[in-house]
Amino acid sequence: MAVLTATDLTKRFGGLTAVKDVSFTARPGEILSIIGPNGAGKTTVFNLLTGFLRPDRGSVSLDDMDLGGVSPESRCRAGLARTFQIVQPFRGLSVLDNVVMGAMLRARSIEMAREIARKVLSDLDMSALCDVSAGQLPIGDRKRLEMAKVLATSPRALLLDEVMGGLIPIEVKKMIGFIQRLRERGIALVVIEHHMSAVMQLSDRILVLQNGEPIATGTPAEVTRDPVVLSAYLGANFAASRS
Ligand SMILES: Nc1ncnc2c1ncn2[C@@H]1O[C@H](COP(=O)(O)OP(=O)(O)O)[C@@H](O)[C@H]1O
Ligand SMILES: [Mg+2]
Repeated sequence: MAVLTATDLTKRFGGLTAVKDVSFTARPGEILSIIGPNGAGKTTVFNLLTGFLRPDRGSVSLDDMDLGGVSPESRCRAGLARTFQIVQPFRGLSVLDNVVMGAMLRARSIEMAREIARKVLSDLDMSALCDVSAGQLPIGDRKRLEMAKVLATSPRALLLDEVMGGLIPIEVKKMIGFIQRLRERGIALVVIEHHMSAVMQLSDRILVLQNGEPIATGTPAEVTRDPVVLSAYLGANFAASRS
């Protein structure tokens, strides 16, 4: 049974149709990746799912609840959380306090929130950074902090927007392992990622967007041999590297 369902999502900005007829489901313990060139509409899909934007057409539901008109905060409380492509920690606060802010969504006391935050930071190998000011973190650690902040809200469906952007290879490897552990916990994951080898390793299913429209969907193996996808996005180099 799907946790998150998008049905015929469509969004126009003036004359530009940024997202057109996008439908998918995200199930517990499954990773769905959304790929496509810059400007394909991926982040806009996340904004529609989380309620930062209102669709012109289509709907989003969490379990059986239609989320139309529900605020981003209420969606988060219902279990739908996201990371932002451009990470914006509270720079003046410590790493721990940034994560405590996320944990406060559910925790009944500040002590409980701190406990949740410490646990999440430990899961992400960030315990040593608890007292560091968030503004001083290098990009790799800021990306992990962004993950920690949303995980502290205990999501059932989690949207990850390019969490590997700017990471060095060893950090990418760690992040892949971490996302796999989230899947094992039964979280439904929707991932936007440019890092193709990570997408291929992680995804159960891939949805390919071009100019806002779905052009293919399937397993990594199916999508990578789809001629439409190869010409639109992955390109001859990718095809050659796989052969
Ligand atoms: N708030 C907005 N107002 C106007 N145009 C937007 C807005 N957000 C995104 N767009 C446009 O919609 C298209 C899809 O953008 P986006 O969803 O950010 O793509 P992606 O994340 O796949 O790179 C782009 O052409 C972008 O310029
Ligand atoms: Mg984007």
